[in-house]
Amino acid sequence: MLPDFIASDVDLTPRNTLALPARAEFLANITHIEQLQHIARHPDLAKRRRFVLGGGSNLVLTGDFAGLMLAMAIPGKACIGEDAQAWYIAAGAGENWHAFVTWTLAQGWPGLENLILIPGSVGAAPVQNIGAYGLEVGERIDHLEAIDLDTGRLTRFTAADCGFGYRDSLFKREGWHVQGRYAIARVVFRLPKRWQPRTGYGEVAAELAQHGSGDPNPTRIAAAIAAIRRRKLPDPAQLPNSGSFFQNPVVSAELAAALATAHPSLPRYPQADGRVKLAAGWLIEQAGWKGRNLGPVGMYEQQALVLVNRGGATSRDVQRLTRAVREAVLARFGVNLVPEPVFL
Ligand code: EPU
Repeated sequence: MLPDFIASDVDLTPRNTLALPARAEFLANITHIEQLQHIARHPDLAKRRRFVLGGGSNLVLTGDFAGLMLAMAIPGKACIGEDAQAWYIAAGAGENWHAFVTWTLAQGWPGLENLILIPGSVGAAPVQNIGAYGLEVGERIDHLEAIDLDTGRLTRFTAADCGFGYRDSLFKREGWHVQGRYAIARVVFRLPKRWQPRTGYGEVAAELAQHGSGDPNPTRIAAAIAAIRRRKLPDPAQLPNSGSFFQNPVVSAELAAALATAHPSLPRYPQADGRVKLAAGWLIEQAGWKGRNLGPVGMYEQQALVLVNRGGATSRDVQRLTRAVREAVLARFGVNLVPEPVFL
């Protein structure tokens, strides 16, 4: 007998923002950590293949999932403390990211405004260290709590433990999200009381200037970033997609310099370690794939980095386009693009 929070043969189409059709053998709707501990100690369930599912906004389902999918729906958000420097805000893994950011701003706790409108859930945010417009979520995380599904134990990870990098964390590097080793249950954010605007990103500064916001406050920055995102990034509810489909490649200074000589308009972002991050969207556009379709999928006309499902796509279509775009960029620029979403 399955516990009542676990269903079998579940349609995953509405649970991934690319809207790829697939089914899960079992799906657990996790609303509190005791359910995770129950699974960890269950003689049969504990042995099954697992996957931790957040908002499904960074996922390519390549087929049906044989095993137990843990759909993280743990609710709750509250200020759990403050000191002279910061507020500490806790949120359950199942909270919708955008709704959570909006709520913190309404409460008068700024600091997450640059990450407004990112699809997905609170629990998934640290896994790939979501980032946008000059801020990465890891910079605002104090610690998080995760259940070790091998033992059922609640484990605390400080921000330093999480080893955050560009679209990267310990959880992602170890493959824990794919293997279902740890399920992040709750994230505690540290929002500094001395708020400082992050408006260094050219597009954000330009958007603010257009509205005459010489003295930007958190609400104005959130509005500016929401406006930029709405212009460039398709709403998954209207046009299924998973955000940036490739990571921005980080290449050697030599390769970046050679490419810049041949292509002076190539956007380049020098990194602390001397390497240079390139704009994948620019590379894809120059390789001829912006706004171009292959079967029912395509690279979005406003932002070439976003792969969209124009209706009825399967994972084969996505994989075919992934290959075509990677080959085109490699042939033209000698740069290997790495997909951002998890292929499951
Ligand atoms: N560009 C083009 N053509 C395109 C797209 C971009 O030439 O079709 C150029 C732009 O003109 C710009 C540069 O590439 O000079 C960078 O573009 P943009 O500012 O749109 O940002 P991005 O590097 O394409 C990254 C993140 C986004 C995030 C934005 C803003 C990654 C993989 N993507 O995109 O994150 O919102 O910066 O910070 O790092 C996501 O991860 O899902 C995501 C949407």
